[in-house]
Amino acid sequence: MSLPKVFVTRIIPPEAQEILNRVAEIEIWPQDTKPPQEVIIQKAAECIGLFTTIEDQINSEVLQSGKDSLKIVSNYAVGYDNFDIDTATKNGIIMCNTPDVLSQTTADLAFGLMLSIARNIVKGDNFVRSGKWTHWHPSTLLGRDIYGANLLVVGLGRIGLEVCRRAIGFGMEIFYHSRTRKLNLEKELGINYVSKLKDGISKADFISINTIMNDQTYHLFGKEEFNTMKNSAIIVNTARGPIIDMESLYEALKNNQIAGAAVDVTEPEPIPNNHPILSLENFVVTPHIGSASIETRKKMAIAAAKNIEAYLLKKTIPSSINS
Ligand code: GLV
Repeated sequence: MSLPKVFVTRIIPPEAQEILNRVAEIEIWPQDTKPPQEVIIQKAAECIGLFTTIEDQINSEVLQSGKDSLKIVSNYAVGYDNFDIDTATKNGIIMCNTPDVLSQTTADLAFGLMLSIARNIVKGDNFVRSGKWTHWHPSTLLGRDIYGANLLVVGLGRIGLEVCRRAIGFGMEIFYHSRTRKLNLEKELGINYVSKLKDGISKADFISINTIMNDQTYHLFGKEEFNTMKNSAIIVNTARGPIIDMESLYEALKNNQIAGAAVDVTEPEPIPNNHPILSLENFVVTPHIGSASIETRKKMAIAAAKNIEAYLLKKTIPSSINS
């Protein structure tokens, strides 16, 4: 008997391939770049499952194309703003992600970015490589202390929580803004809630964005929010690019209205090489690598494969978003 077909949109670690191979006939898109949208639409009509990444748009066209065949889509990611959940649910298609396994790794990068900008790590590297380190001077590349500063965490989900835990280790005072107040965590971690985001923004030394991207968080940080921030404040975004309005961020950084920004996500992605923000020294950027450690990417691929495996074996799906 032939096995059900699953289309995998990128080359994935062998451990995840093995899981899928046991229960499905898998076809892996062989290139480094994403498959064209027409290919995904066609595969949705032919396959029972899709194993996707955040670059693949699983929109209504794909889901309509798969309405008779497609039963499950598993994202190799925790975020799923590339999914049209409503259409999937209407068509009875199960949509899945990979929460939990990447929270620590992404929180590590948030702190890496925070330190890069606060302590001039990227600037320092450029300084040395460009031959400017000709003598030692007590005021070369003075940064800002993280220790003793306060941090506003925007979004207290799994990753936001791990950012808080790291911030405690760094001796920061922490407050958070979130859709739901989490009294147990306030008590456990000694963190404080701010009900109005603006109140948090106005007093923050550092801001870490860890919220999901949706209609409510689109351009949550724009001109007004940057005007509200302290001139000495630093903002870090490891969530999704469109949560920050990049044009307003560029203006705020250029005019030194805020001290710096370090982001792993941009709008659009990839950011064009000629974007004016890339000329600013108070801006650090990485190419959406929040969860990109060898260990974590393997865990994510396995988790995404296990969602599909569980569906095909009629078991409880570990990380379904809509069922
Ligand atoms: C990466 O951005 C993810 O959502 O896992």
